[in-house]
Amino acid sequence: MITPPRVKTSMSSSHERGWDGIYHRFPLRRLPWELGRPREVLVDLVESGRVRPSEALDLCCGAGSNPVYLAEEGFDVTALDISDRAVELAMEKAHQSRVRVNFLIGDFVNLPFKDEEYDFVFDFGCFHHVETGNRGAFIEGVHRILEPSGTYLMVCFSEKNGRAWNHFRREQIVELFGDHFEIEQINHVSSLESDEITRYFYEVLMKKLRV
Ligand SMILES: C[S@@+](CC[C@H](N)C(=O)[O-])C[C@H]1O[C@@H](n2cnc3c(N)ncnc32)[C@H](O)[C@@H]1O
Repeated sequence: MITPPRVKTSMSSSHERGWDGIYHRFPLRRLPWELGRPREVLVDLVESGRVRPSEALDLCCGAGSNPVYLAEEGFDVTALDISDRAVELAMEKAHQSRVRVNFLIGDFVNLPFKDEEYDFVFDFGCFHHVETGNRGAFIEGVHRILEPSGTYLMVCFSEKNGRAWNHFRREQIVELFGDHFEIEQINHVSSLESDEITRYFYEVLMKKLRV
């Protein structure tokens, strides 16, 4: 049994039990976002050379497909999730893939990292789970931990999935992130998730701005 290190931070919500419960109750194949392979948008970005092996952070790493891929590509990777069980599964994946990833259990609203610690932050399906009142703190946190010209790739649900508090419009994303990041690219994409349902996302590639 591998015991991941726990970072003591105050939890932003009751999500902890909720998410951990999900990872305990269901096998990974029943979790729509757990594709068992790295996300295409991440692979494309790395293969394009727009981010090069450097200090990377995967926020909300789930069962670890994305951080393990980054480590295989030569990145020095830290990966954080609130679920003990998800991190345990991710550690097993890293072990099986014979790569080193620094896993932490913690909360995305209270990022336990130093200023300017990372060159690249990857967030697939993380920001859209941040409660409305915590969005400002989350965005400031990501901005704080990125080095001056750091890259942030954020992928969130789009309004095309139907109206919901965390399904975003393009203008809303620009409004939320525009003061802290230069938005280099926004793509609207669909993805067939593992439950065979197509979901819609915005993929947003950003560079840290000096504020
Ligand atoms: C939709 S999954 C995405 C997982 C992974 N990024 C992927 O692409 O497969 C959302 C993840 O966010 C994590 N999470 C939810 N609330 C969190 C919080 N407050 N702090 C850190 N992680 C959180 C969940 O445990 C879950 O693993």
